[in-house]
Amino acid sequence: MKRHSALLLTLGASVVTMSAAAQSGPETRAETPDIRAERTLSAMTPAEKLLLLHGPMHTLLPPEQRPQGIPLGAGYIEGVARLGIPRLVETDASLGVSNLMEARKGDTATALPSGLSLASTWDPAIAHAGGAMIGSEARAKGFNVMLVGGVNLVRDPRGGRNFEYLGEDPLLAGTLVGAQIDGVQSNHIIATIKHFALNDQETGRNVASVEMDEAAMRESDLLAFQIGIEKGDPGSVMCAYNRVGGIYSCENPFLLTDVLRRDWGYKGYVMSDWGAVHSTAALVAGLDQQSGEQIDRKPYLSTLLEQALAAGRVPQSAVDQAAGRVLHSIYAHQLDRYPLAVGTTIDLSANAAVAQRAAEAGIVLLKNEGGLLPLAHQARRIVVIGGNADAGVPSGGGSSQVRPVGGAKRVTAAATSGVAAMFAQRFYGGTPPLDAIRAEFPAAQVSFLDGKDAAAAARAAQAADIAIVFADKYATEALDQPDLSLGEGQDELIDAVASANARTVVVLETGNPVLMPWQAKVPAILAAWYGGQRGGDAIARILSGQVNPSGHLPVTFPVSLDQLPNRVLPGSDAPAADGETKATYGLAADTKPFDIHYPEGSDAGYRWYDAKGLKPLYAFGHGLSYTSFRYDRLKIVSGESLTVRFTVTNSGDRAGTDVPQVYVRRPGKAKRLIGWGRPELQPGESREVVVTADPRVLGDYDVKARRWMVRPERVTVEIARSATDPVLSAPARLRAATRKP
Ligand code: BGC
Repeated sequence: MKRHSALLLTLGASVVTMSAAAQSGPETRAETPDIRAERTLSAMTPAEKLLLLHGPMHTLLPPEQRPQGIPLGAGYIEGVARLGIPRLVETDASLGVSNLMEARKGDTATALPSGLSLASTWDPAIAHAGGAMIGSEARAKGFNVMLVGGVNLVRDPRGGRNFEYLGEDPLLAGTLVGAQIDGVQSNHIIATIKHFALNDQETGRNVASVEMDEAAMRESDLLAFQIGIEKGDPGSVMCAYNRVGGIYSCENPFLLTDVLRRDWGYKGYVMSDWGAVHSTAALVAGLDQQSGEQIDRKPYLSTLLEQALAAGRVPQSAVDQAAGRVLHSIYAHQLDRYPLAVGTTIDLSANAAVAQRAAEAGIVLLKNEGGLLPLAHQARRIVVIGGNADAGVPSGGGSSQVRPVGGAKRVTAAATSGVAAMFAQRFYGGTPPLDAIRAEFPAAQVSFLDGKDAAAAARAAQAADIAIVFADKYATEALDQPDLSLGEGQDELIDAVASANARTVVVLETGNPVLMPWQAKVPAILAAWYGGQRGGDAIARILSGQVNPSGHLPVTFPVSLDQLPNRVLPGSDAPAADGETKATYGLAADTKPFDIHYPEGSDAGYRWYDAKGLKPLYAFGHGLSYTSFRYDRLKIVSGESLTVRFTVTNSGDRAGTDVPQVYVRRPGKAKRLIGWGRPELQPGESREVVVTADPRVLGDYDVKARRWMVRPERVTVEIARSATDPVLSAPARLRAATRKP
């Protein structure tokens, strides 16, 4: 097994060891985080308390101002050595340990596939394994806070960060992010669910205000966070850049105090996004920590907070409360008792296997006419075209971008101006699909063309048994996409190749849904997203049939922009900001403030299509297999909740994993996912799937009553292959129920 040492770093004095932790006073291991936090707080000086409430992005500090002995990353928060409070050292995030702007020269990490790929697995176990893996690499590199856990809903398929997130459904996204966070934190480090809330697009992210009624928020975006927090218990919540109801998320008392603390009982701390703090009063609204503080316009939670305390504008109790919450998370996750294992050997081969398993389970077989896939092993001449498939798989840009083990194999043009240019690169890494295909089809002659010349590609395709076109589309944080086309001549390329060879396979490597004007001509299409460290291997093994595809779409692929709730991306036509545009990390106020309205309200994604009777190109939940599955024996028990049982049988001739989905249709409402199964079945094998619905997906949020309300009504339960493909259905009666928010 190939082993490799992480960068060896010596930790600074303020990171404590076990014995230092014990110095904070007499204590027993059974003490709760609350008790420990209270005791430490009472021993802290006012200045020490303030230390926990802010910190810089050290990567952007001049070298002489950076603390020694900690790895460069997104930021750090000073600890208090005399009390055994460890320094918090932060890095991104959900797709692996990122290395922003390659601040740690030459340092690489295992790259997981993108968030949409993870969501396509519908598998909390895979999310957990990925989280545990990146958390272990983070520890070994000297980080104890992972900015992991992006769960903003995909509301618009043009969103620049959709690739990082977990799709359009709050139950699916919340379940997966909870598992991911739990995995990360199994390493005794803190994870950060983000970006709270409604930061569902990049355009105007620093100025725009999302205007949505409370019930709609609670039933959609907030529900994803709520479920994620319940399941994952993250040590921190990161508030977002945008405003909600006119108020910045990081100083929004409704979000940070009423919803998060009062209603959800959250006990950890809220850290700001980098450059998202706008006032000292944010502390009183519920923010606890100013991250990357030099990016904000002012030192709100340090110098200005000291002044506000002295002037009596902010009470000391607000500081105590915030510092107490930071301590609570440190103790809840025992950061002080498990000092970082910097320099521990990372088992790169085991970690790559985690990435490969995730990539294989995340690939979605969208179309497979005539059973073209898996490719016959008799294929003698295979031509692979485009997508830099000879170099690696693409990755999305921005703070989540991981420099994969092996490095960036090819860097191509990305944005040359604006924030996206500053911290994102368009590169290809991991196993090159071309090499993996060659390894998978040793008897075939596999040639490669870069796809820049469509006519040459068509000629090569004509002479081959099989043509595989790789089509990719770059996505990055800080920039939404103007449209859903593949761009760069790739639609024309696919059309030309498919016209020349009827046995053409298209492998999409995108961060978002795309339009497919060539769809009818192409018999086999895979959505392989951004595949991570072993993306190439995963694609090749799906093509060969070594792995039976099991991914299902976590987002709807529209037929055209006309099907979207907002045909024009909100803010894309907003007037430019005048004068002072501060385009540093994260801060891009390049438009005047504007409001974002989501006409779909709580009906994000497939629910909008259902409500409007629109037929998408590929529906949420869709995904084919090389085997077939039969559903029967549907039984419904409606009592306290709704329990749905049914049997899935593998009716084909190879082993496979299915993702049967359960939807409920209520009178006058769009259908809603209430659960799913993921049975792995041998040919002929049957298994019962049992789904018990969470009352929140059966009912509505009643703002006046401050309760979830399930009404006594007749509903239809569907067992489906996708949001538009029900197989079994039966009526059920819901019993009236209420539930606290
Ligand atoms: C992103 C966050 C990230 C932070 C630190 C911000 O631009 O929105 O997701 O964690 O930077 O890198």
